[in-house]
Amino acid sequence: MAGELGGPRLAARMADVRESGTVELMDRARQLRARGQDVVSLAGGEPDFDTPAGAVEEAVRALREGFTHYVSSRGIPELRRAIAGKLQRENGVAYDADTEIVVTVGAKMALLSAILVLVEPGEEVISFGPAWVSYQPMVALAGGRLVAVPLRAEGGRFAFDEAEVQRAVTPRTKVLLVNNPHNPTGKVFSRDELAFLAGLAREHDLVVIADEIYEHIVYDGRRHVSMASLDGMRERTVTVNGFSKAYAMTGWRLGYLAAPAAVASAALAITQQTTTCATSFAQKGAVAALTTGGGAVAAMVAEFARRRQFLLERFRAIPGVELIPPEGTFYAFPRLPGDTPSTEVARRLLEEKQVAVVPGSVFGEAGEGFLRLSFSCSLGELCRGLDRLEAFFRGG
Ligand SMILES: Cc1ncc(COP(=O)(O)O)c(C=O)c1O
Repeated sequence: MAGELGGPRLAARMADVRESGTVELMDRARQLRARGQDVVSLAGGEPDFDTPAGAVEEAVRALREGFTHYVSSRGIPELRRAIAGKLQRENGVAYDADTEIVVTVGAKMALLSAILVLVEPGEEVISFGPAWVSYQPMVALAGGRLVAVPLRAEGGRFAFDEAEVQRAVTPRTKVLLVNNPHNPTGKVFSRDELAFLAGLAREHDLVVIADEIYEHIVYDGRRHVSMASLDGMRERTVTVNGFSKAYAMTGWRLGYLAAPAAVASAALAITQQTTTCATSFAQKGAVAALTTGGGAVAAMVAEFARRRQFLLERFRAIPGVELIPPEGTFYAFPRLPGDTPSTEVARRLLEEKQVAVVPGSVFGEAGEGFLRLSFSCSLGELCRGLDRLEAFFRGG
């Protein structure tokens, strides 16, 4: 059978790997803008801030000095040392910079490598639904199956049912994938919730992939807890993180994983055989981001907190739409009134009000009935977008 577009027959594994619903929407909003339409995009997941100046300076200096060749597939040693320092200082976990850390092309490649390294065809990965769009296709590429335990909006929070997670574990379960803070709901898992999941992982000999890319973006005095810092978890956790969200470095494509040496070595082999290494001069910039970018991160998080507050106030005036305040990330995940499919609501919002949002259903079944809005854009843009949303839901 030829692919939908004709041409050669595609590999069967592509049946479960589709274009990213969120990236597609960002592209659609960009196209409409290019055609002169005044589109407000609340769809993207990228901070509107500039990358911290120190990181830019160091990357430019590296380029000028000719640091433009292949580097170690593990990542340049000074970046691995800076990452190990950060993991110790901020996350309370000690990693060996020479054997337990691999720098990757975005956190996405760290996640894909971890999944390919751990998941056999037919094995299952438990995660929470709604789930970030790329987890299911990544698990499918490994021949595995993502099992999404629902996060339910109850009592003012998104929460999971412990018994439901327990029931999801089968003899085929290999990995527990925990995205904390959570895209798209904005949930920050509490220490107790993490301790429960850690206990389950120990009991059933599961590996945890901890995607902590939003760790700095938490609100109302919350503190992010790293899975690997919990008792007995360092040896069974792959911690994934990156520079995109905290340092507004999405286009730099830099991320990393930290894991026991056997897992890190296998991920290293994947890096060597696929991308060779993450971009050399970008890594020099990332060292500066980690060592001098703390103030910039704090300023960005303070601005996200202001935008979140603004959004929460505006949502009180939007009839019928329930919003659980996000505890972290720069996403809001409001529940729609009625039972119109979220794709239909998102399509009408774009066509009738020129505002781009992501339909909850792209995050799986548990996301149906919700929309994801990003407040990583400027306050002015957010205000224009919310004016349009309010007019839409008021029927104007
Ligand atoms: C939950 C989550 N993990 C990982 C990533 C990937 O980040 P990167 O830009 O580092 O590949 C994203 C980006 O949207 C994300 O939302």
